[in-house]
Amino acid sequence: MAIERIIDTVIHDDNNDEQVIEVTLRPQTFVDYVGQERLKKNLKLAIEAAKKRDEPIDHVLLYGPPGLGKTTMATVIANEMGKNIRVTAGPAIERAGDLASILTNLGDGDILFIDEIHRLSRAVEEVLYSAMEDYKLDIVIGKGPAARSVRLDLPKFTVIGATTRTGSLAAPLRDRFGHIHRLEFYTPKEIEQIIKRAATILESDIHPDAAKDLSTRARLTPRIANRLLKRVRDYADVNGDGIIDTMTTTRALEMLEVDELGLDPADRNLLTSIIDNYGDNPVGLTTIAALTGDEATTIEDFYEPYLLQLGFIERTPRGRRVTPKAYRHLGRTAEG
Ligand SMILES: Nc1ncnc2c1ncn2[C@@H]1O[C@H](COP(=O)(O)OP(=O)(O)OP(=O)(O)O)[C@@H](O)[C@H]1O
Ligand SMILES: [Mg+2]
Repeated sequence: MAIERIIDTVIHDDNNDEQVIEVTLRPQTFVDYVGQERLKKNLKLAIEAAKKRDEPIDHVLLYGPPGLGKTTMATVIANEMGKNIRVTAGPAIERAGDLASILTNLGDGDILFIDEIHRLSRAVEEVLYSAMEDYKLDIVIGKGPAARSVRLDLPKFTVIGATTRTGSLAAPLRDRFGHIHRLEFYTPKEIEQIIKRAATILESDIHPDAAKDLSTRARLTPRIANRLLKRVRDYADVNGDGIIDTMTTTRALEMLEVDELGLDPADRNLLTSIIDNYGDNPVGLTTIAALTGDEATTIEDFYEPYLLQLGFIERTPRGRRVTPKAYRHLGRTAEG
């Protein structure tokens, strides 16, 4: 994506400021982690049981759209277990040897967080799932006829994998996870709570009704809630006395071109391009990508989850279809 979108669910590597803010705002324990009640209930139980037995918890796979709190939950689990967390990502582990050195350096009960786990190479994946299964590492030493295989004992560790797409995960790897959880979109109430919590940490004065207004515009996603709050706070500092009320939020969001449902020009462009070219007929993902000039995976991972959640598009066997609800929101009438 060429233009940085305010409602972008991803943090770009060059955005240091935002990375710092994310770390400051990141909940550290279950108490601070708002929402995802079912996930928390299951994990709390697993953690309590594991602690009683003095064992690590079973491997955890978290999946769902970006910015919903997967990395945060991995940190929370490590804190609640009182163990170290080692953070890495699928594309960063290029060779089986890279994984071997990570694994042999883990301590007993440590957590290995693998972000974008669907992007591990096949060779690395195979080493990983045998290590997850029996805490052993098979490595080949030497080359040619002199090569021999040795088996190393590993500490008992827990893998927490995160992915936006479980479909791309090889079945044998997927099967090694005892806990597989989908992170859900948050409710506006929960987002409101997240905004208030963030405002307190940032020592920013926000009126309760402004927090409520913001909560419906954050795409039900904590990362965006925090980002909008930050932008609105900037606006209030520059154009007023720093206090965030409904007037400030409305003006700031107008300036950012984010509408009452959190849609930005790129979302509206996606919907209107489909409507203008295909009406309410189903359209394939690659066609949509061609219309907007994005990658198909970008559409699938970033635009679509929220538009589906809103019921603005629906998936049919023949492609994606824009719904009457979206027509109404855009002020368009469905033809024919
Ligand atoms: N349940 C929550 N309660 C409060 N704040 C949260 C919660 N979940 C996430 N956040 C906030 O949103 C930010 C983004 O969350 P996080 O980085 O965990 O998302 P993610 O699912 O790992 O995204 P990605 O798929 O892009 O890696 C965090 O820095 C944190 O401040
Ligand atoms: Mg993450």
